[in-house]
Amino acid sequence: MDNNIQIYADIFRNPIVMASALAENTRIGFGPLTDAFARAHTYLRIAVTDRCNLRCLYCMPPAGVSWAPSSLLLTDNEFVRLCELFARLGVRKIRLTGGEPLLRPGLASLAGAIKGIGGIETVGITTNGVRLAAQARALRVAGVDRLNVSLDSLRRNRFEQIARRDGLGEVLSGIDAALEAGFTGVKINTVVMGGCNDDELADFVELTRGLPVCVRFIEFMPFLGNRWCDAHLVSYASMRAAIEARYAILPVADPDPSRVAKEFKVPGFAGSIGFITSMTEHFCGGCSRLRITADGQFKTCLFRSPEVNLRDALRGGAADEEIAALAAEALYLKPRQHADIRELERRADRSMFQVGG
Ligand code: GTP
Ligand code: 5AD
Ligand code: SF4
Repeated sequence: MDNNIQIYADIFRNPIVMASALAENTRIGFGPLTDAFARAHTYLRIAVTDRCNLRCLYCMPPAGVSWAPSSLLLTDNEFVRLCELFARLGVRKIRLTGGEPLLRPGLASLAGAIKGIGGIETVGITTNGVRLAAQARALRVAGVDRLNVSLDSLRRNRFEQIARRDGLGEVLSGIDAALEAGFTGVKINTVVMGGCNDDELADFVELTRGLPVCVRFIEFMPFLGNRWCDAHLVSYASMRAAIEARYAILPVADPDPSRVAKEFKVPGFAGSIGFITSMTEHFCGGCSRLRITADGQFKTCLFRSPEVNLRDALRGGAADEEIAALAAEALYLKPRQHADIRELERRADRSMFQVGG
C-alpha cells in the first residue's frame, strides 16, 4: 500500500473526519464539489466508449485489448442523468472522450442533450479525427462547442506506425471539416515520444502558420501496457528549446488556473502552440477535473486513484443524493498531486483508452 492510499484508508476509518469531510463537501443539498485541498471541480470528462478504430502505441497494449461488454457501458439516459446531477453540483464543462467517442452511435444527439442541461456552459469532444469529416457538421449543429483532435505525425508511414492503423488523410480532412463547420479553438494533441516523432516539432509548428488551431505537444505519460520508458519521455524543457532554436515564440496569457497547457504563439502565425507538461511540471494544483470511465467508474484523478462504481449505483436505484454523496466521498480522497514518475510507472492500473485522458 503506498503512502497516499494508507492515508485515505485512515481517513475512511475515522468516522469524525469522514463525517466532517462529507458535511464540508456535499452539504447534501448539492453544493459545489470541492476537495480536501479547496479545489473546485467544474470539469467532467466522460469516456463514452472504450472502443477505438486506432491502436495508438502510447494508449493501448500491442495485443490482448478487450473491450468492456456493451452492457457495462452507460446508456445515453444514464449519462444524461449523471450530467444533470453533476451540473447541480457545479460542473460547467463536459468533455466526451473515449476510446474514440465518434464510434458511439448517436453521439451528436447525446452531446446535444448534455448541452441542453441547465448550468452546462461548454461541451467538448476529444477525438482521433478519423471519422470527423463525416460528423463535424452534425456535432456543431448539436451544440458541441470545442473539438480537440489527436494527431501525432504528419508523415503517413509514421502515423501508421504510431496508430498501428492507416488514417492520416482522414484526420487531416476531419480537421478541415471541423474548421469549415465553424468550430473555433480547435486543438491538436500531439504526444511527443523520444526517437519516434520528436523530429516533427517544427513541422507541427509550421501547421499553425496558416491554420487557426492550437497544437499542443504532450509529454508522454505511463499507462498500463504502453511501454513507457525514460528514453521516450521528451521533456517540456527540451521541446521548448528545440522550437526556440528555430522560432521566436511569445507566451499567451491564460488566467484559467485549471488550464493544462502552457500556450505560446509565433507572431504572425494564425494558430498557436502549447505544452502539456504532466511529467516534468505537473499542474495538479489547479486541477478541476473529474472523470467517468467508459465502464461507469467515477475517478477523481487521471492516474491511480480511488474509483467509485456509479454504474452499479445508478442501476441499483440510488437517489441523486446518494450518488452525490458517493462522488463527494471519492473527491475527498483525491490526492493533492499525482505520484512521481517512478511510482506512476510502477503502479499504472489502467490503459488510457479506458480512462479517456
Ligand atoms: P481543454 O478543454 O481544451 O483544455 O481540453 P483538455 O486539455 O482538458 O483535454 P484533452 O482531452 O484534449 O487532453 C489533452 C491532454 O491533457 C491529454 O494528454 C490528457 O491526458 C491530458 N490531461 C487532461 N487532463 C489531465 C489531468 O488532469 N492530468 C494530467 N496529467 N493530464 C491531463
Ligand atoms: N501520454 C500522454 N497523452 C496521452 N494521450 C493518450 N495517451 C497518452 C499518454 N500515454 C492523449 C491523446 C489524446 C488525449 C485524450 O490523451 O493525445 O488526445
Ligand atoms: Fe484510440 Fe485515442 Fe487511444 Fe489512439 S489515443 S488508440 S485514438 S483512444
